[in-house]
Amino acid sequence: MYTFPKDFLWGVATAAQQIEGAAAEDGRGPSIWDTFSAIPDKIAGNDTPALACDFYHRYPEHLALAKELGFNAFRFSFSWPRILPEGTGAVNQKGLDFYKRMIDEMLRLGLTPNATLYHWDLPQALDDRGGFLTRDIAGWFGDYAEVLFKEFGDVIPLWSTFNEPIATYVGYGHGWFAPGRTGGERDGRTANHHLLLAHGEAVQRFRQSGATGQIGIVVDVWHHHPARPDCPEDVALAERENEKAYRSYLHPLFKGGYSPALTQWMEDNHYLPPILEGDFEKIRQPLDFFGLNCYNRVVDCADPSVNVRQKTEHAGGNFLDNGTEYYPQAIYDALHILKEQYGVTIPIYITENGTHAPDERIVENGVEVIHDPVRIRYFQGFLEWLSKAMAEGVDVRGYFAWTLLDNFEWTAGYGTRFGMATAPVGGGDILLKDSAYWWQEFLKNKKI
Ligand code: BGC
Repeated sequence: MYTFPKDFLWGVATAAQQIEGAAAEDGRGPSIWDTFSAIPDKIAGNDTPALACDFYHRYPEHLALAKELGFNAFRFSFSWPRILPEGTGAVNQKGLDFYKRMIDEMLRLGLTPNATLYHWDLPQALDDRGGFLTRDIAGWFGDYAEVLFKEFGDVIPLWSTFNEPIATYVGYGHGWFAPGRTGGERDGRTANHHLLLAHGEAVQRFRQSGATGQIGIVVDVWHHHPARPDCPEDVALAERENEKAYRSYLHPLFKGGYSPALTQWMEDNHYLPPILEGDFEKIRQPLDFFGLNCYNRVVDCADPSVNVRQKTEHAGGNFLDNGTEYYPQAIYDALHILKEQYGVTIPIYITENGTHAPDERIVENGVEVIHDPVRIRYFQGFLEWLSKAMAEGVDVRGYFAWTLLDNFEWTAGYGTRFGMATAPVGGGDILLKDSAYWWQEFLKNKKI
Protein backbone atom coordinates (compact mmCIF):
# COMPACT_ATOMS: atom_id res chain seq x y z
CA MET A 1 0.00 0.00 0.00
CA TYR A 2 2.76 2.47 0.87
CA THR A 3 6.42 2.28 -0.04
CA PHE A 4 8.86 4.80 1.29
CA PRO A 5 12.65 4.77 1.21
CA LYS A 6 14.55 3.86 4.38
CA ASP A 7 16.33 7.20 4.74
CA PHE A 8 13.12 9.21 4.30
CA LEU A 9 12.64 12.12 6.70
CA TRP A 10 9.44 11.92 8.73
CA GLY A 11 8.64 14.98 10.75
CA VAL A 12 6.07 17.30 12.18
CA ALA A 13 5.92 20.91 11.03
CA THR A 14 5.42 23.97 13.24
CA ALA A 15 5.85 27.75 13.11
CA ALA A 16 7.23 30.11 15.76
CA GLN A 17 4.25 32.43 16.02
CA GLN A 18 1.83 29.55 16.29
CA ILE A 19 3.57 27.64 19.08
CA GLU A 20 6.21 29.61 20.98
CA GLY A 21 4.15 31.99 23.13
CA ALA A 22 6.43 34.02 25.45
CA ALA A 23 5.60 36.92 23.19
CA ALA A 24 7.12 39.62 25.37
CA GLU A 25 9.77 37.54 27.09
CA ASP A 26 13.56 37.84 27.03
CA GLY A 27 13.62 40.85 24.77
CA ARG A 28 11.41 39.65 21.92
CA GLY A 29 9.88 42.53 19.95
CA PRO A 30 6.28 42.53 18.71
CA SER A 31 5.45 41.00 15.35
CA ILE A 32 2.74 42.04 12.91
CA TRP A 33 0.61 39.14 14.18
CA ASP A 34 0.85 40.37 17.79
CA THR A 35 -0.37 43.76 16.64
CA PHE A 36 -3.02 42.41 14.29
CA SER A 37 -4.48 40.00 16.82
CA ALA A 38 -4.89 42.85 19.33
CA ILE A 39 -7.41 44.51 17.00
CA PRO A 40 -10.93 43.41 18.02
CA ASP A 41 -12.61 40.88 15.74
CA LYS A 42 -9.64 40.18 13.52
CA ILE A 43 -9.14 36.73 15.06
CA ALA A 44 -11.87 34.23 15.92
CA GLY A 45 -12.70 34.52 19.59
CA ASN A 46 -10.28 37.46 19.78
CA ASP A 47 -7.56 34.89 20.48
CA THR A 48 -3.94 36.04 20.49
CA PRO A 49 -0.65 34.17 20.03
CA ALA A 50 0.76 35.59 23.30
CA LEU A 51 0.81 32.19 25.04
CA ALA A 52 0.14 29.59 22.32
CA CYS A 53 1.67 26.18 23.18
CA ASP A 54 4.40 27.74 25.31
CA PHE A 55 6.97 25.96 23.19
CA TYR A 56 9.46 28.60 24.34
CA HIS A 57 9.55 26.90 27.74
CA ARG A 58 8.15 23.47 26.98
CA TYR A 59 10.18 22.57 23.88
CA PRO A 60 11.92 19.63 25.63
CA GLU A 61 8.56 17.98 26.24
CA HIS A 62 7.28 18.70 22.73
CA LEU A 63 10.43 17.46 21.02
CA ALA A 64 10.43 14.36 23.21
CA LEU A 65 6.86 13.66 22.13
CA ALA A 66 7.77 13.93 18.44
CA LYS A 67 10.60 11.49 19.08
CA GLU A 68 8.40 9.12 21.05
CA LEU A 69 5.89 9.01 18.21
CA GLY A 70 8.71 7.86 15.94
CA PHE A 71 9.45 11.00 13.92
CA ASN A 72 13.06 11.63 12.93
CA ALA A 73 12.80 15.27 11.90
CA PHE A 74 11.22 18.51 13.12
CA ARG A 75 10.29 21.58 11.13
CA PHE A 76 10.25 24.89 12.98
CA SER A 77 10.64 28.55 12.14
CA PHE A 78 12.81 31.26 13.64
CA SER A 79 10.99 34.27 15.01
CA TRP A 80 12.56 37.31 13.37
CA PRO A 81 11.42 39.68 16.19
CA ARG A 82 12.96 37.34 18.77
CA ILE A 83 16.31 37.49 17.01
CA LEU A 84 16.15 41.17 15.99
CA PRO A 85 13.46 42.92 18.06
CA GLU A 86 13.66 46.01 15.85
CA GLY A 87 13.93 43.92 12.70
CA THR A 88 17.41 45.29 11.96
CA GLY A 89 20.37 46.25 14.11
CA ALA A 90 21.02 44.79 17.54
CA VAL A 91 20.78 41.02 17.95
CA ASN A 92 18.86 39.79 20.99
CA GLN A 93 21.28 37.30 22.52
CA LYS A 94 18.61 35.69 24.67
CA GLY A 95 16.55 34.98 21.59
CA LEU A 96 19.49 33.38 19.87
CA ASP A 97 20.24 31.35 23.02
CA PHE A 98 16.73 29.93 23.01
CA TYR A 99 17.20 28.55 19.50
CA LYS A 100 20.63 27.20 20.48
CA ARG A 101 19.13 25.25 23.36
CA MET A 102 16.24 24.06 21.29
CA ILE A 103 18.33 22.93 18.31
CA ASP A 104 20.81 21.20 20.64
CA GLU A 105 17.94 19.27 22.14
CA MET A 106 16.67 18.32 18.72
CA LEU A 107 20.08 17.04 17.72
CA ARG A 108 20.46 15.18 21.00
CA LEU A 109 17.18 13.38 20.31
CA GLY A 110 18.17 12.56 16.75
CA LEU A 111 15.56 14.84 15.18
CA THR A 112 16.82 16.45 11.96
CA PRO A 113 16.19 20.21 12.16
CA ASN A 114 14.35 21.73 9.19
CA ALA A 115 14.37 25.49 9.68
CA THR A 116 12.28 28.21 8.08
CA LEU A 117 13.50 31.79 8.27
CA TYR A 118 10.13 33.44 7.81
CA HIS A 119 6.74 32.01 8.67
CA TRP A 120 4.67 35.23 8.56
CA ASP A 121 5.85 36.98 11.76
CA LEU A 122 7.46 40.16 10.46
CA PRO A 123 8.82 42.44 13.20
CA GLN A 124 6.27 45.22 13.70
CA ALA A 125 9.11 47.73 13.59
CA LEU A 126 9.76 46.78 9.97
CA ASP A 127 6.14 47.01 8.93
CA ASP A 128 6.22 50.51 10.41
CA ARG A 129 8.99 51.25 7.92
CA GLY A 130 6.98 49.95 4.97
CA GLY A 131 7.41 46.21 5.45
CA PHE A 132 7.12 44.23 2.25
CA LEU A 133 5.96 47.28 0.31
CA THR A 134 9.53 48.58 0.23
CA ARG A 135 12.45 47.02 -1.62
CA ASP A 136 14.50 47.57 1.51
CA ILE A 137 12.97 44.37 2.85
CA ALA A 138 15.40 42.36 0.70
CA GLY A 139 18.43 43.79 2.52
CA TRP A 140 16.76 43.60 5.93
CA PHE A 141 15.89 39.98 5.37
CA GLY A 142 19.37 39.21 4.06
CA ASP A 143 20.95 40.69 7.19
CA TYR A 144 18.61 38.72 9.46
CA ALA A 145 19.25 35.51 7.54
CA GLU A 146 22.98 36.05 7.76
CA VAL A 147 22.85 36.21 11.57
CA LEU A 148 21.28 32.75 11.56
CA PHE A 149 23.54 31.27 8.87
CA LYS A 150 26.57 32.34 10.92
CA GLU A 151 25.15 30.94 14.13
CA PHE A 152 23.59 27.69 12.88
CA GLY A 153 25.08 27.18 9.42
CA ASP A 154 26.99 24.12 10.53
CA VAL A 155 24.20 22.30 12.41
CA ILE A 156 21.02 22.81 10.37
CA PRO A 157 20.91 20.71 7.20
CA LEU A 158 17.68 22.13 5.73
CA TRP A 159 16.81 25.82 5.45
CA SER A 160 13.84 27.47 3.82
CA THR A 161 13.74 31.18 3.17
CA PHE A 162 9.96 31.75 3.19
CA ASN A 163 6.90 29.75 4.05
CA GLU A 164 3.95 30.29 1.71
CA PRO A 165 4.50 33.72 0.14
CA ILE A 166 0.77 33.98 -0.55
CA ALA A 167 0.16 34.93 3.10
CA THR A 168 2.13 38.14 2.53
CA TYR A 169 0.08 38.95 -0.58
CA VAL A 170 -3.09 38.46 1.47
CA GLY A 171 -1.78 40.55 4.37
CA TYR A 172 -0.74 43.53 2.23
CA GLY A 173 -3.29 43.39 -0.57
CA HIS A 174 -6.48 42.31 1.10
CA GLY A 175 -5.98 42.62 4.84
CA TRP A 176 -7.34 39.23 5.86
CA PHE A 177 -3.97 38.41 7.43
CA ALA A 178 -1.45 40.56 9.28
CA PRO A 179 -0.49 43.31 8.85
CA GLY A 180 -4.08 43.86 7.72
CA ARG A 181 -3.25 46.29 4.96
CA THR A 182 -5.84 46.64 2.24
CA GLY A 183 -3.89 48.30 -0.54
CA GLY A 184 -5.49 46.00 -3.11
CA GLU A 185 -4.09 43.74 -5.79
CA ARG A 186 -1.19 45.98 -6.79
CA ASP A 187 0.11 46.22 -3.24
CA GLY A 188 -0.32 42.47 -2.81
CA ARG A 189 1.69 41.85 -5.99
CA THR A 190 4.30 44.42 -4.89
CA ALA A 191 4.69 42.78 -1.48
CA ASN A 192 5.16 39.42 -3.17
CA HIS A 193 7.68 40.75 -5.66
CA HIS A 194 9.75 42.16 -2.82
CA LEU A 195 9.40 38.91 -0.89
CA LEU A 196 10.81 37.04 -3.88
CA LEU A 197 13.73 39.49 -4.03
CA ALA A 198 14.32 38.90 -0.32
CA HIS A 199 14.32 35.17 -1.01
CA GLY A 200 16.97 35.62 -3.71
CA GLU A 201 19.04 37.82 -1.42
CA ALA A 202 18.96 35.23 1.38
CA VAL A 203 19.98 32.41 -0.95
CA GLN A 204 22.95 34.47 -2.13
CA ARG A 205 23.96 35.21 1.46
CA PHE A 206 23.63 31.52 2.29
CA ARG A 207 26.05 30.59 -0.49
CA GLN A 208 28.51 33.25 0.71
CA SER A 209 28.21 32.25 4.36
CA GLY A 210 29.90 28.88 4.07
CA ALA A 211 26.90 27.13 5.65
CA THR A 212 27.06 23.39 5.08
CA GLY A 213 23.35 22.65 4.64
CA GLN A 214 20.86 23.06 1.82
CA ILE A 215 18.50 25.90 1.07
CA GLY A 216 15.08 26.11 -0.60
CA ILE A 217 11.69 27.78 -0.30
CA VAL A 218 8.25 26.53 0.72
CA VAL A 219 5.29 27.22 -1.58
CA ASP A 220 1.76 25.88 -1.19
CA VAL A 221 0.13 24.44 -4.28
CA TRP A 222 -3.66 24.38 -4.14
CA HIS A 223 -4.47 23.63 -7.75
CA HIS A 224 -7.74 25.16 -8.96
CA HIS A 225 -10.03 22.93 -11.03
CA PRO A 226 -13.07 24.07 -13.01
CA ALA A 227 -16.29 22.82 -11.42
CA ARG A 228 -17.69 22.22 -14.91
CA PRO A 229 -14.75 21.16 -17.10
CA ASP A 230 -16.75 21.77 -20.28
CA CYS A 231 -17.75 25.31 -19.26
CA PRO A 232 -15.31 27.90 -20.71
CA GLU A 233 -16.06 30.43 -17.93
CA ASP A 234 -15.15 27.93 -15.22
CA VAL A 235 -12.02 26.87 -17.09
CA ALA A 236 -10.94 30.51 -17.50
CA LEU A 237 -11.62 31.25 -13.84
CA ALA A 238 -9.61 28.27 -12.61
CA GLU A 239 -6.77 29.23 -14.95
CA ARG A 240 -6.65 32.77 -13.65
CA GLU A 241 -6.74 31.66 -10.04
CA ASN A 242 -3.82 29.30 -10.65
CA GLU A 243 -1.91 32.14 -12.26
CA LYS A 244 -2.59 34.46 -9.34
CA ALA A 245 -1.68 31.82 -6.77
CA TYR A 246 1.09 29.23 -7.00
CA ARG A 247 2.18 30.00 -10.55
CA SER A 248 2.98 33.58 -9.54
CA TYR A 249 5.78 32.13 -7.38
CA LEU A 250 6.86 29.08 -9.36
CA HIS A 251 7.28 31.00 -12.60
CA PRO A 252 9.77 33.55 -11.22
CA LEU A 253 11.52 30.89 -9.13
CA PHE A 254 11.97 28.35 -11.91
CA LYS A 255 11.40 30.17 -15.21
CA GLY A 256 12.85 33.60 -14.53
CA GLY A 257 9.80 35.89 -14.72
CA TYR A 258 6.06 36.15 -14.31
CA SER A 259 4.13 34.06 -16.83
CA PRO A 260 2.87 35.80 -19.99
CA ALA A 261 -0.74 35.28 -18.80
CA LEU A 262 -0.13 36.81 -15.36
CA THR A 263 1.93 39.65 -16.80
CA GLN A 264 -0.84 40.48 -19.26
CA TRP A 265 -3.48 40.39 -16.53
CA MET A 266 -1.38 42.60 -14.23
CA GLU A 267 -0.69 45.06 -17.06
CA ASP A 268 -4.33 45.24 -18.14
CA ASN A 269 -5.45 45.97 -14.60
CA HIS A 270 -2.54 48.18 -13.48
CA TYR A 271 -1.43 45.61 -10.92
CA LEU A 272 2.13 45.23 -12.17
CA PRO A 273 4.62 45.53 -9.30
CA PRO A 274 7.71 47.73 -9.74
CA ILE A 275 10.15 45.41 -11.52
CA LEU A 276 13.72 46.62 -11.98
CA GLU A 277 16.42 45.29 -14.24
CA GLY A 278 18.07 42.25 -12.74
CA ASP A 279 15.18 41.39 -10.41
CA PHE A 280 14.34 38.10 -12.07
CA GLU A 281 17.98 36.99 -12.13
CA LYS A 282 18.16 37.67 -8.42
CA ILE A 283 14.96 35.76 -7.72
CA ARG A 284 15.90 32.74 -9.81
CA GLN A 285 18.71 31.43 -7.62
CA PRO A 286 19.59 27.76 -7.96
CA LEU A 287 17.91 25.94 -5.07
CA ASP A 288 18.94 22.74 -3.32
CA PHE A 289 15.42 21.52 -2.63
CA PHE A 290 11.81 22.58 -2.93
CA GLY A 291 9.35 22.57 -0.03
CA LEU A 292 5.78 21.72 -1.00
CA ASN A 293 2.88 22.49 1.32
CA CYS A 294 -0.19 20.63 0.18
CA TYR A 295 -3.57 20.59 1.87
CA ASN A 296 -6.22 20.29 -0.83
CA ARG A 297 -7.41 21.40 -4.24
CA VAL A 298 -9.88 24.19 -4.99
CA VAL A 299 -12.90 23.87 -7.27
CA ASP A 300 -14.02 27.08 -9.00
CA CYS A 301 -17.34 27.88 -10.55
CA ALA A 302 -18.08 31.10 -12.44
CA ASP A 303 -21.79 30.82 -11.67
CA PRO A 304 -22.42 31.57 -7.98
CA SER A 305 -25.80 29.83 -8.09
CA VAL A 306 -24.17 26.45 -8.82
CA ASN A 307 -23.63 24.27 -5.76
CA VAL A 308 -20.00 23.29 -6.27
CA ARG A 309 -20.27 20.65 -3.63
CA GLN A 310 -22.99 18.85 -5.57
CA LYS A 311 -20.90 19.15 -8.72
CA THR A 312 -17.86 17.49 -7.21
CA GLU A 313 -19.48 14.91 -4.94
CA HIS A 314 -18.40 11.43 -5.99
CA ALA A 315 -20.19 8.22 -5.17
CA GLY A 316 -19.30 7.17 -1.64
CA GLY A 317 -18.92 10.78 -0.51
CA ASN A 318 -15.75 12.74 -0.90
CA PHE A 319 -16.32 15.41 1.70
CA LEU A 320 -14.87 15.19 5.18
CA ASP A 321 -16.87 15.86 8.32
CA ASN A 322 -15.06 19.19 8.63
CA GLY A 323 -16.76 20.29 5.40
CA THR A 324 -13.68 20.23 3.16
CA GLU A 325 -13.42 18.05 0.11
CA TYR A 326 -11.51 14.81 0.54
CA TYR A 327 -9.18 14.92 -2.43
CA PRO A 328 -5.91 13.24 -1.45
CA GLN A 329 -4.87 13.12 -5.09
CA ALA A 330 -4.07 16.83 -4.62
CA ILE A 331 -0.56 15.90 -3.51
CA TYR A 332 0.02 13.67 -6.51
CA ASP A 333 -1.24 16.36 -8.87
CA ALA A 334 0.92 19.05 -7.22
CA LEU A 335 4.05 16.91 -7.48
CA HIS A 336 3.42 16.24 -11.15
CA ILE A 337 2.80 19.94 -11.78
CA LEU A 338 6.20 20.70 -10.23
CA LYS A 339 7.93 18.07 -12.27
CA GLU A 340 6.21 18.43 -15.60
CA GLN A 341 5.27 22.11 -15.74
CA TYR A 342 8.21 23.60 -13.87
CA GLY A 343 10.93 21.06 -14.58
CA VAL A 344 11.66 20.65 -10.87
CA THR A 345 14.27 17.93 -10.56
CA ILE A 346 15.78 19.01 -7.24
CA PRO A 347 14.65 16.95 -4.23
CA ILE A 348 11.22 17.83 -2.88
CA TYR A 349 10.12 17.75 0.74
CA ILE A 350 6.47 17.77 1.69
CA THR A 351 6.86 20.50 4.27
CA GLU A 352 3.21 20.56 5.40
CA ASN A 353 0.16 18.37 5.04
CA GLY A 354 -2.70 18.00 7.49
CA THR A 355 -6.26 18.87 8.31
CA HIS A 356 -8.42 20.30 11.04
CA ALA A 357 -11.01 17.87 12.29
CA PRO A 358 -14.08 17.74 14.50
CA ASP A 359 -12.26 15.93 17.29
CA GLU A 360 -14.43 13.92 19.64
CA ARG A 361 -13.06 14.29 23.17
CA ILE A 362 -14.72 11.85 25.56
CA VAL A 363 -14.11 9.72 28.63
CA GLU A 364 -13.96 5.98 27.93
CA ASN A 365 -13.54 3.56 30.84
CA GLY A 366 -12.46 6.45 33.01
CA VAL A 367 -9.82 7.58 30.53
CA GLU A 368 -9.99 10.72 28.44
CA VAL A 369 -9.50 10.05 24.71
CA ILE A 370 -9.79 12.04 21.49
CA HIS A 371 -11.15 10.31 18.42
CA ASP A 372 -10.20 12.00 15.14
CA PRO A 373 -10.94 9.50 12.36
CA VAL A 374 -11.23 12.30 9.80
CA ARG A 375 -7.60 13.24 10.37
CA ILE A 376 -6.41 9.64 10.15
CA ARG A 377 -8.28 9.06 6.91
CA TYR A 378 -6.80 12.28 5.54
CA PHE A 379 -3.21 11.31 6.35
CA GLN A 380 -3.67 7.79 4.96
CA GLY A 381 -5.07 9.05 1.68
CA PHE A 382 -2.36 11.66 1.16
CA LEU A 383 0.41 9.20 1.97
CA GLU A 384 -0.97 6.72 -0.55
CA TRP A 385 -1.00 9.32 -3.30
CA LEU A 386 2.43 10.59 -2.26
CA SER A 387 3.79 7.07 -2.49
CA LYS A 388 2.25 6.67 -5.95
CA ALA A 389 3.91 9.88 -7.22
CA MET A 390 7.23 8.70 -5.83
CA ALA A 391 6.84 5.32 -7.51
CA GLU A 392 6.41 7.24 -10.76
CA GLY A 393 9.77 8.93 -10.26
CA VAL A 394 9.12 12.17 -8.36
CA ASP A 395 12.09 12.68 -6.05
CA VAL A 396 10.55 13.27 -2.60
CA ARG A 397 12.90 12.99 0.37
CA GLY A 398 10.69 13.70 3.36
CA TYR A 399 7.23 14.43 4.71
CA PHE A 400 6.22 16.77 7.55
CA ALA A 401 2.76 16.49 9.06
CA TRP A 402 0.98 19.65 10.11
CA THR A 403 1.05 19.53 13.13
CA LEU A 404 2.11 18.14 16.51
CA LEU A 405 -0.09 20.17 18.87
CA ASP A 406 -3.22 22.23 18.38
CA ASN A 407 -1.95 25.79 18.14
CA PHE A 408 -2.65 29.39 17.16
CA GLU A 409 -4.29 28.89 13.78
CA TRP A 410 -3.89 32.51 12.61
CA THR A 411 -7.23 34.26 12.03
CA ALA A 412 -9.05 31.08 13.05
CA GLY A 413 -7.58 31.37 16.57
CA TYR A 414 -7.37 28.29 18.79
CA GLY A 415 -10.77 26.87 17.81
CA THR A 416 -9.58 25.36 14.53
CA ARG A 417 -7.34 22.45 15.44
CA PHE A 418 -4.77 20.73 13.27
CA GLY A 419 -2.82 18.88 16.01
CA MET A 420 -2.36 15.15 16.43
CA ALA A 421 -2.24 16.03 20.14
CA THR A 422 -3.63 18.82 22.26
CA ALA A 423 -2.86 20.81 25.42
CA PRO A 424 -4.47 23.85 27.03
CA VAL A 425 -3.46 27.22 25.58
CA GLY A 426 -0.36 28.36 27.45
CA GLY A 427 0.67 24.74 28.14
CA GLY A 428 -0.41 21.92 30.39
CA ASP A 429 -0.96 18.19 30.15
CA ILE A 430 -0.72 16.89 26.62
CA LEU A 431 -3.42 14.52 25.43
CA LEU A 432 -2.73 12.42 22.35
CA LYS A 433 -5.45 12.03 19.75
CA ASP A 434 -6.04 8.75 17.94
CA SER A 435 -4.09 10.15 14.98
CA ALA A 436 -0.94 10.44 17.12
CA TYR A 437 -1.20 6.73 17.94
CA TRP A 438 -1.87 6.07 14.27
CA TRP A 439 1.36 7.87 13.37
CA GLN A 440 3.28 5.96 16.01
CA GLU A 441 2.08 2.68 14.56
CA PHE A 442 2.70 3.78 10.99
CA LEU A 443 6.24 4.93 11.75
CA LYS A 444 7.03 1.73 13.64
CA ASN A 445 6.09 -0.37 10.66
CA LYS A 446 8.26 1.76 8.45
CA LYS A 447 11.23 0.71 10.51
CA ILE A 448 10.63 -3.01 10.15
C1 BGC B 1 0.39 27.37 7.06
C2 BGC B 1 0.29 27.02 8.53
C3 BGC B 1 -1.16 26.82 8.90
C4 BGC B 1 -1.69 25.67 8.08
C5 BGC B 1 -3.12 25.27 8.40
C6 BGC B 1 -0.48 26.51 6.19
O1 BGC B 1 -0.93 27.24 5.10
O2 BGC B 1 1.72 27.34 6.64
O3 BGC B 1 0.90 28.03 9.28
O4 BGC B 1 -1.37 26.61 10.25
O5 BGC B 1 -1.66 26.02 6.73
O6 BGC B 1 -4.02 26.25 8.06
